[in-house]
Amino acid sequence: MNEKAVESLPTNFSGFPFAMNLVREKLNEARRVVILTGAGISAESGVPTFRSGGGASVWRGMPFEQLSSAEMVERDLPLVWEWFDYRRGVVGDCKPNAAHRALARWQQSDHFDSFTLVTQNIDGLHAAAGSIDVLELHGNIWRARCDSCGALRDLRAVPPRERPPVCAVCGHAMRPDVVLFGENLQIDVLQRAHERAAECDMCLVVGTSALVYPAASLPEVARAGGAFVVEVNPELTPLSALCHATLRGRAGDILPLLLHDGELND
Ligand code: OAD
Repeated sequence: MNEKAVESLPTNFSGFPFAMNLVREKLNEARRVVILTGAGISAESGVPTFRSGGGASVWRGMPFEQLSSAEMVERDLPLVWEWFDYRRGVVGDCKPNAAHRALARWQQSDHFDSFTLVTQNIDGLHAAAGSIDVLELHGNIWRARCDSCGALRDLRAVPPRERPPVCAVCGHAMRPDVVLFGENLQIDVLQRAHERAAECDMCLVVGTSALVYPAASLPEVARAGGAFVVEVNPELTPLSALCHATLRGRAGDILPLLLHDGELND
């Protein structure tokens, strides 16, 4: 991809072309990379975002913070399943986009000594694009979990007929295997993400409003450890000021241009 082609893109790169060239240079030099993604990376696949008018924020007049909450699991588990059935219905028709595919190819190449993909998304689109060992901070919408015995169930491989699904091991009612408001993240997943962030030399933050902690602390950890931190987002976020470079535009337009040696991209 030459500069002319980049300039013709319908997005507005902040500081372009300096920022774009700088990020390419840094990414080509980087050996240990951490990528943090949020809902914005799946927006071009048709998955609604939470906070930018994408439509995932209210269902049946209830805000998602209320529906996706530990309190609602206690109070009305069947309603929580209805809400997640609805979300699975939306996500189920969505395919990975150019940004998901670019990240999968970066991982599959031998370009980096260490490549860690951390996502806040529960849609499973990184894995669908071919990414492996994705650190899913907020769980996965395609899994159910039994809080009584810890059993997990892949909802696509074994679709349950009943709501809530019944655990095949102990008969207890299962819940979506996602982190809800009022709950803690899985400590081992978070710990691994923090360790990689502390050690990386480059951290790319893609499509997140950076408002939800502890996920939003990863770029801060990376920066404190000396990493070059880049944001890819059409909008400003609270993280923008912390970044060494910000690429203002859509992930699907920008990511395929970053490692542009032909082999690695579309
Ligand atoms: P948000 O909906 O808060 O933010 C989406 C971000 O993506 C915004 O900053 C948009 O500007 C940006 N965006 C939109 N389209 C984009 C595109 N094509 N390319 C790149 N960026 C784009 O989503 P998250 O930050 O992921 O947690 O939200 C974090 C957490 O809040 C979610 O994981 C969820 C929610 O509560 C739980 O459910 C536990």
